[in-house]
Amino acid sequence: MELLLPILLGFLAALIGGLYLLGVFRQRRPGEPPLDKGLIPWLGHVLEFRRDTLKFLERMKQKHGDVFTIQLGGFYITFLQDPLSFGSLVKESREKLDFSKFAMHLVRKVFGYAAVEGDHAILHTSSNKHLKGDGLEVMTQAMMSNLQNLMLHNIGSAAEQSTWIEDGLFMYSYNIVFRAGYLSLYGNEPHKSEGSEEKDRVESEALFYEFRKYDQLFPNLAYGVLLPKKRLEAERLMGLFWNSLSVTKMKKKDNISRWIWDIQQAKEEMGMDESMINKYMFVLLWASQGNTGPSSFWLLLFLMKHPEAMKAVKGEVDTLLKESGQEVQRGGPLVNLTREMLMKTPILDSAVEETLRLTAAPLLTRAVLQDMTLKMADGREYFIRKGDRMAVFPYIAVHIDPEIHPDPQSFKYDRFLNPDGSKKTDFYKAGKKVKYYNMPWGAGVSMCPGRFFATNELKQFVFLMLVYFEFELKNPDETIPEIDFSRWGFGSMQPQRDVEFRYRLRY
Ligand code: HEM
Repeated sequence: MELLLPILLGFLAALIGGLYLLGVFRQRRPGEPPLDKGLIPWLGHVLEFRRDTLKFLERMKQKHGDVFTIQLGGFYITFLQDPLSFGSLVKESREKLDFSKFAMHLVRKVFGYAAVEGDHAILHTSSNKHLKGDGLEVMTQAMMSNLQNLMLHNIGSAAEQSTWIEDGLFMYSYNIVFRAGYLSLYGNEPHKSEGSEEKDRVESEALFYEFRKYDQLFPNLAYGVLLPKKRLEAERLMGLFWNSLSVTKMKKKDNISRWIWDIQQAKEEMGMDESMINKYMFVLLWASQGNTGPSSFWLLLFLMKHPEAMKAVKGEVDTLLKESGQEVQRGGPLVNLTREMLMKTPILDSAVEETLRLTAAPLLTRAVLQDMTLKMADGREYFIRKGDRMAVFPYIAVHIDPEIHPDPQSFKYDRFLNPDGSKKTDFYKAGKKVKYYNMPWGAGVSMCPGRFFATNELKQFVFLMLVYFEFELKNPDETIPEIDFSRWGFGSMQPQRDVEFRYRLRY
């Protein structure tokens, strides 16, 4: 008996400790948001959240209102779904809400990269220099020449006969935009080597093929639920990208973007191991190439399904080309679309913004480093606990809120245009102006530093499609495919199936 008691007490303590860790004892304290732990200890709502994030969060919002805390895989996450209060999360000091802690964990898991202090500063210094302002001029030129190399060679001998080529619109758009973006950022085969353009095409095609495999594994990899065989495949692919994008290989290339170059240099100077820099190159490939291709697909598809939008955009593109004194002719010079020309496309800008409203759905997450008070725009206040997380899913809170964007499921190419043709930025909810009325790029410290380049890429691709090609859906009654639910929260959404189309040179 004397022996049994300590064993029993030990067992009881371990049990209580275990239940505590599983979150069984957590209760909502006065002043905290509604707490919904779900039925399964520790896992909480993770299964339903994973199955369809959008549906789940809509259900929670209906049940609890615009602020609630839920349990997900051991974490307590407070979702803020009132867009008028987003400033409280976006502008909160880094001592209280931290982006990098969460991001560090993710990049380690999915890219093998061990983040270090100073990473973010290096990324932002290089991005500010080379992905906006004058730096963007160089990037835009590089993208233009790579797009034309790929788009015009893609058609091979069909160009001679102007025959129709059939393809899946998703795979076609993703393929071209990924490869052109990759070549513009990571450089071309040395121009002195024979057949360098052909080598660029072959190498980028092979890389895209592997990237798509990784892309499909990505959501489950990020959630840590890949089956062992697929996990091995993901590891093989990671190794392949670390090698393909390695510093040694890239130093032999021509035209590496200054964005990539400066980041590599800065990491070398801080003494980072070369193998770790190679891994970071993969992080950047993912961030820069995983979203623009899918977005270009949606943009083209929406234009094809909305003839009035297509007509307006085509009219703008034709005028721009004419005003620049250029004409597309068989055997004539390639079109030169400058960054300056790209700044005079309000209709296309609005169509891009509308496409992203409907199809870009990031989940913004922050770690709570100190106990804090969340102050809502209407004066409510909530206590948030240290160790929890806070998140915003703008897709529900903003993108498809019918008060901010009436008839939110419809594609309206001119939604972001004022009647006088200027950019519309005034959107309202409950009579109050909404500052964050479209958030495809996230917001605050982690806001996408590539957003200006990405917008240009989308516009360049559509511009070239319109000036060089005739294209149409194979089935004119084709419906817009459903979004693949497994990717909510990961940026640009992908369709559940591809859509067949055909294209041919217009001259
Ligand atoms: C349509 C295309 C794109 C979309 C919708 C998009 C969206 C986003 C979003 C939502 C984030 C923030 C994620 C978060 O807060 O957790 C992000 C981050 C990032 N994006 Fe983009 N992006 C696009 C294209 C690009 C391009 C072309 C580049 C580079 C050339 C790029 C580079 C990055 C980088 C480096 C980050 C990480 C920023 C950080 O850690 O602070 N993105 N992107």
